Amino acid sequence: MTRLLVRDLAQLVTHAGTEAPLRGDALGDVDVLENGYVLCDDGRIEATGRMRDLGPLDGEVEEVDGRGLTAIPGLVDCHTHACFAGDRVDEFALRAGGATYEELHAAGGGILSTVSATRAATEAELEERMDEHRNWMARAGTTMFEAKSGYGLDHDTELAQLRAIRSAGGVPTWLGAHAVPPEFPDADAYLDFALAEVLPEAAGLAEAADVFVENGAFDESQARRYLTACADAGLALRLHGDQFTEQGAVPLAIELGARSVDHLEATGAEGVRALAASDVTAVLLPASALFLGRRMPPGRTLVEAGAAVALATDFNPGSAYCESLPLVCSLAATQLQLSPAEALGACTVNAAHVLGRANRKGRLAPGYDADLVLLDVPDWRYLAYHLGHDHVLTVIWGKAALP
Ligand code: NIG
Ligand code: FE
Repeated sequence: MTRLLVRDLAQLVTHAGTEAPLRGDALGDVDVLENGYVLCDDGRIEATGRMRDLGPLDGEVEEVDGRGLTAIPGLVDCHTHACFAGDRVDEFALRAGGATYEELHAAGGGILSTVSATRAATEAELEERMDEHRNWMARAGTTMFEAKSGYGLDHDTELAQLRAIRSAGGVPTWLGAHAVPPEFPDADAYLDFALAEVLPEAAGLAEAADVFVENGAFDESQARRYLTACADAGLALRLHGDQFTEQGAVPLAIELGARSVDHLEATGAEGVRALAASDVTAVLLPASALFLGRRMPPGRTLVEAGAAVALATDFNPGSAYCESLPLVCSLAATQLQLSPAEALGACTVNAAHVLGRANRKGRLAPGYDADLVLLDVPDWRYLAYHLGHDHVLTVIWGKAALP
């Protein structure tokens, strides 16, 4: 296969080393190399360096002119709900008029209105929407994404979502405990069904399981039951926790050895301390806090306490209709007090860690997958600085996330 040389790059920006997750000062310690190149072979990075150190290359080499451009690692979106049908634009307008997300949910709207639309879609329609959303994400520089089910909450639709996510190249998470669908009297009865009827097949399609721990969704003991069964079936564990209120998701995540606990807008000092002392990654979703007009998660405090912090979009039709990690980097810098370097590390190395792929994704270094984003910016920090801008000129994919 032809090798690919991206040459004469104005800047090549990556976190050095192989450590993951990055914590504390290491998260903000980014390498910026001027006048660089990236040499790729068969979807992997063969070498990176300065142009002046590049020797002659034998054989066929395709070249990409990087003059004036900045290369960063392909962005990794480790938390999305990108597989859905319908939209929630009517609810968005109601929220703009003062209705709250929780009120809409309690009235049978919210997540459950996307459940109705997703159940009504054919699998081909779901695949089509998933592909459209994947293309939006790629346009914004995302070369690897995770996506959750959780808009089916029945046997066939949950599995159809997981298949559609896989076929779009995403890393699938079974969010079997997202909400209690209307045909069940309560959360326990729904979990009886989901664990007996859906988990056996979901475990063969998904890599992780996720649960929404919140008033009106699942409580700590229901989450424990769901996650324990999912771990027994071989799935990694994730939690939606402390989005609106602290309901014990952080200690539960730590006790069960979860990969991550995500949201954390309501997390207090004890939760920050516990996360910092644990192996659980704190996945922050500032686009969701912005979209719902809520307080931001304690990003700076978590980083300084030594927690492993990742950033993601939470792309979904209700709480974060936003597929752009560059915008999330801007929010991290302006709302969470993360530096541009910390924001970049949080949606490359640390996000890849959450997906169990930090040895292949998230860095521009030999042996890593050749996932590169070329930005048309005068300085790589424009990624966070130029709010809402379309920075991405070219996306280069190496190896797919899934075989
Ligand atoms: O992460 N909080 C729960 N789930 C999603 C929202 C899903 C939706 O509103 O459709 C979230 O914000
Ligand atoms: Fe979410």
